[in-house]
Amino acid sequence: MLVRPRRNRISKTIREMVKETILRPANLIYPLFIVEGKQIKSEVKSLPGNYRWSLDMLIPEIQECINMGIQSFILFPSVDDSFKNSTATYSYNEKNFYLKAISAIKEEYPNICLISDVAMDPYSSDGHDGYVRDGEILNDETLPILGKMAVAQAEAGIDIVGPSDMMDGRVEFIRKELDKEGFKNVGIMSYSAKYASAFYGPFRDALDSAPKEGNKKTYQMDPANSTEAIKEAKLDESEGADYLMVKPALNYLDVIQLLKQNSNLPIAAYHVSGECAMLTAACENGWLEYEKAMPETLLSIKRAGADIILTYFAKDYAKLLKEGKIPL
Ligand code: PBG
Repeated sequence: MLVRPRRNRISKTIREMVKETILRPANLIYPLFIVEGKQIKSEVKSLPGNYRWSLDMLIPEIQECINMGIQSFILFPSVDDSFKNSTATYSYNEKNFYLKAISAIKEEYPNICLISDVAMDPYSSDGHDGYVRDGEILNDETLPILGKMAVAQAEAGIDIVGPSDMMDGRVEFIRKELDKEGFKNVGIMSYSAKYASAFYGPFRDALDSAPKEGNKKTYQMDPANSTEAIKEAKLDESEGADYLMVKPALNYLDVIQLLKQNSNLPIAAYHVSGECAMLTAACENGWLEYEKAMPETLLSIKRAGADIILTYFAKDYAKLLKEGKIPL
């Protein structure tokens, strides 16, 4: 035998030397749910280890994450039903606790990167991402609402806005609105290939944001499609997106790779709530070992081509690294 691939795996030192994929905490974005009030830390039942935080409790939690090496966060509001309506007006109301939280967090930690969600669903009485009229989820009529939402978030101090409704013309419209208001340096992370997936369940539990009627198939992509993801990505790029996102991540590793090969923009992958919940459940049952299965999972998303990973395991991953339990 002239060729023995095992020689390159013979020792830990050699294995580390030939390692092809490295995942640093700086590549991770940690999703956090915010709720109005004080002294609230209420666990999302279907996503153990994740909470709806009131701002006063969230501030020290963010400090803990920073101490672990996590520097980027995506924030989602859990809005009381009494503030929801068909046009999501609360999303850009200056009294909105989510906007106030963005300002407070940026004031406390000016060097972190804060990312927002720009979609109607947390604020919509219909539970859809767009404006619903006579049962139809309207594309163009939703745009001005999203524009106001993005500008309000920029005014609050957000670093990157994340249009997540997977409808048409979002990036260009939001880019123009932001520029018009002087927010040229606020970035856009576009949910370019977001699928109509069954894996968003725990997230919708967290925000109580499930659609009241119907489903999201007229705007989110069909899980059967991948060339369509390239079309969506190219459109977002031409409209001025700074990052492209694939969502979910694990069942769509091929799509992550495809976008990486077809774009020069950084590719983000959203390791969504249902994907994290599955692994957590298996580990809680003793069927998988969390400290091994979790880092392997995140590494596989990076290896597929994701530059950035949004994951509910961000803090735990950074902690394992810090404790020296996994190699960098
Ligand atoms: C909707 C939005 C969803 C998620 C992020 N933004 C849910 C949906 O499309 O219904 C899901 C994230 C997750 O499951 O972790 N704007």
